[in-house]
Amino acid sequence: MEDFITMKEIKQAVDAIRARIDIEPEVGMILGTGLGDLADSVEDAVIIPNDQIPQWPLSTVQGHKGRLVIGRLENVRVLVLQGRTHFYEGYSMGRITLPVRVMKQLGCDKLVVTNAAGAINPDFVPGDLMLINDHLNIIGMSGANPLKGPNLEEFGPRFPDMSQPYDRELLKLAQEACNEAGMAFQEGVYASLAGPSFESPAELRFLQTVGADAVGMSTVPEVIVAKHSGMRVLGISGISNKANLDGSTITTHEEVLEAGKVLVPKLTTLIRGFLGKL
Ligand code: HPA
Repeated sequence: MEDFITMKEIKQAVDAIRARIDIEPEVGMILGTGLGDLADSVEDAVIIPNDQIPQWPLSTVQGHKGRLVIGRLENVRVLVLQGRTHFYEGYSMGRITLPVRVMKQLGCDKLVVTNAAGAINPDFVPGDLMLINDHLNIIGMSGANPLKGPNLEEFGPRFPDMSQPYDRELLKLAQEACNEAGMAFQEGVYASLAGPSFESPAELRFLQTVGADAVGMSTVPEVIVAKHSGMRVLGISGISNKANLDGSTITTHEEVLEAGKVLVPKLTTLIRGFLGKL
């Protein structure tokens, strides 16, 4: 497989999905580690396993089901990715973000991205929801940007603006949805690293110094491709663990999955409230 994604590959995936659905989705959603159960709330759902879609990057991680769920949530037409693919699984940046290109081609002009993240901000605790207001593209800074390679002019310009990766109006709607549900939330900057190893204490202190509130291994590549495609983005981190800034505790994938159980009902309330406001 080539590193870069072509229009032909995108079209193959789009055609395979279009042949199985009779609605045009308006909001794309990507559900992070342990958060996939939110897709169970989708009504009139058409479910497509990822291995039935040409060119699709297949997820290998526990906690990621690997299918598309297309239907309605709060009467909004949604296309939900139940389980995403990560850079650390061995795919190129272009390949892991192919689903976002496909969402856009199918009609989505908005993207809701979620992830499980470690808390760097000392005020955050596992089970908190953090609305993402900006990001640190640490992987991109070291050269692995999903837009590397020939520019797909059909989607956007060679040098896309990134002054507002997370749409302020959508963020406001999400804040309102939390407030109306009487649900506390955090807000902050998400730093994206490649993984799969968790961070060392010195790396975490570095991230804290440069302004990160939460850290994870996803989301930012998808957001960059969504913005390049002209989509508006809402980003939500489910805080699954406290980052280990002094090396006194360990972080495990099991802990991240366990936190998902507490986070899914909260995330469902937030996303339902948000969609109801669109
Ligand atoms: N670090 C990186 N990624 C993560 C973490 C973490 O602490 N928790 C969940 N995803």
